[in-house]
Amino acid sequence: MLKTVLPPSVIVVETTGDTPVDTLWPDETHDIASAPVERQLEFATVRHCAREGLQRLGLPPAAILRDRFGAPLWPSGVVGSMTHCRGFRAAAVAHAGDITALGIDAQPVKALPPGVFARISGPGEQELVTQLKTDEPGIVWDTLLFSAKESLYKAWYHLTGTGLGFLDVDFHLHTDGRLDFTFLRPVPDIVSSAQWQGGWSVDSGLVLTAIWATPSGS
Ligand SMILES: CC(C)(COP(=O)(O)OP(=O)(O)OC[C@H]1O[C@@H](n2cnc3c(N)ncnc32)[C@H](O)[C@@H]1OP(=O)(O)O)[C@@H](O)C(=O)NCCC(=O)NCCS
Repeated sequence: MLKTVLPPSVIVVETTGDTPVDTLWPDETHDIASAPVERQLEFATVRHCAREGLQRLGLPPAAILRDRFGAPLWPSGVVGSMTHCRGFRAAAVAHAGDITALGIDAQPVKALPPGVFARISGPGEQELVTQLKTDEPGIVWDTLLFSAKESLYKAWYHLTGTGLGFLDVDFHLHTDGRLDFTFLRPVPDIVSSAQWQGGWSVDSGLVLTAIWATPSGS
């Protein structure tokens, strides 16, 4: 499902089932040992997906540990992202020479809780989503915008190691499945020099988004 919105250089592994928690590598287990079972299962399953992705890239399996903010630490030369929600888990990985940053996100097809859309969107985005709701009422555009921002956050964090505010970016959601955006704050060279793209899909009750950056000139 996410594969349809990402370039062929990105390997996507998705599942609707869960992998046993004992498939975690020992160092990964330490990270999650005291969490509720559901959390352990999603944590184990996305890592299982990620290792399958590494294998398809022709790379050896590896532990996917986390930094102090919870972001995945990928093997050298790999760029990746993971997402999970009820009934769906996915990992996407690519060679760092092809893709410099990557974020994926999945959300259930349902409207955001009251007040959330106003908090995560700027005036231009609110105007756009109002129009899109009229033009294409079958899509949960507010949730799609939220998901796009989650995907961008993951890609941004991978490149910068810093956070990004919801109002630091202005998204344009296209009805043909593309996502564009403009940063509304100064960004480091590593961000401005990359070529950014994004895509979305709605499938099997899920809103799926991906944002990725390729090296400039590629
Ligand atoms: C970190 C965050 C993006 C995770 O998204 P989520 O929708 O809550 O959860 P998902 O299931 O989609 O993704 C969870 C996975 O994201 C990854 N992740 C966590 N923190 C991350 C970070 N800082 N950077 C990249 N990936 C991260 C992890 O792999 C995590 O799964 P795991 O803990 O099982 O390994 C979210 O919690 C968050 O902080 N959002 C607010 C920031 C934001 O979106 N700002 C707006 C930017 S325009």
